[in-house]
Amino acid sequence: MFEELPILPPDSILGLAAECRADPNPDKVDLTIGIYMDEAGLCPVFEAIKQAQRCLVEEEQSKAYLSPQGDPAFLEGMMALVLGAGYMADHADRVGAVQSPGGCGAVRLGAEVLKASGTDGKVWISDPSWPVHVPLITSTGLALSKYRYYDPATHGVDFEAMVSDLAAAGRGDIVLLHGCCHNPTGANIDMDTWKAITELVIEKDVMPLVDIAYQGFGDGLDEDAAPLRYMASRVSEMYVAASCSKNFGLYRDRVGIAMLIAEDALTAAVVQGNLATLNRLNYSFAPDHGAALVAIILNDPALRAEWMQELGEMRDAMLKIRQNLADALRQQCNSDRFDFIAEHRGMFSRLGLAPDLVDVLRDQHGMYVVGDSRINIAGLAGGRYQPFANAVAQVVSVS
Ligand code: LMR
Repeated sequence: MFEELPILPPDSILGLAAECRADPNPDKVDLTIGIYMDEAGLCPVFEAIKQAQRCLVEEEQSKAYLSPQGDPAFLEGMMALVLGAGYMADHADRVGAVQSPGGCGAVRLGAEVLKASGTDGKVWISDPSWPVHVPLITSTGLALSKYRYYDPATHGVDFEAMVSDLAAAGRGDIVLLHGCCHNPTGANIDMDTWKAITELVIEKDVMPLVDIAYQGFGDGLDEDAAPLRYMASRVSEMYVAASCSKNFGLYRDRVGIAMLIAEDALTAAVVQGNLATLNRLNYSFAPDHGAALVAIILNDPALRAEWMQELGEMRDAMLKIRQNLADALRQQCNSDRFDFIAEHRGMFSRLGLAPDLVDVLRDQHGMYVVGDSRINIAGLAGGRYQPFANAVAQVVSVS
């Protein structure tokens, strides 16, 4: 039966993370997969999550199925967290939402519902983007196109190239945007550019699909959501995929939400029904446990304050590492070549090193960097930025 199945290569990020785990070098540094790490190199469980778990153990009455749409308390809490309480107060009837297994599951649901809607348009994604976006979208049968995004010379967003490429998009097309903390580059679109992209989306009658997987990891919960909230206030239709993996530290519990803003209440209900049916057809129900914890936290003022405090500490720690790494590299390389690291936001920065230098970093220094030279900033906690800066300075000096 399975003779014809091809042997698939490992996922580029997960494969490298596994390679790093298997490396016996005690000085290795794991900068691969996007998980927050503390000074000891561990991915901690939020105290707020631990408290919510205790509360769930005490109070949960049943493990019976929920509906394919998911937990209503989770959905309501998350819609307000992402789209804003003000937006929901005015437009709740235009928003349809279902629970999904992680943000990745929400993007997948979006691609499936767009395909089911019969569009023959293309999905435009940034070049580069999270590598999984490509197969995740194309395997539904939707066509893909790329818009230029990152300028390797400035390490920032190439706005003119982006707008010039998106000028070719048209009615029926979809534009996938990273809500904040662009993965893999760390270079983000500023608010003025979001406003300009919003006008372009309206003018071209293109559907925005915003993937927000790092809300709270950039500048703050509201700050990171501000661009997509602005866009939501201006456009008639928009799809948003949000994740609780990073900002609630619920990676393995698979917690996410798919939200669709429609032109009117009837359309929102139809799309929501389709999304819920897709859940039913794919796996019946999204996992409940993590979503129940998020619902508890978002609805309990004291726990919510505790969670926001912990999230703020993580964000501050990553900003500090950015500054420390940029300073150390400035000193070691005697140049401002890597100053951009302090300006980037979120978990990642792309260093702009050639693949052979990334190999040398791994093979000779035990520094595991993704092949496009993306690093997970949080992996450099506990002073690990210093040996990393030494290694980078060494490899660039001989290149
Ligand atoms: C990453 O980019 O490392 C994260 O989004 C985790 C993943 O699933 O790839």
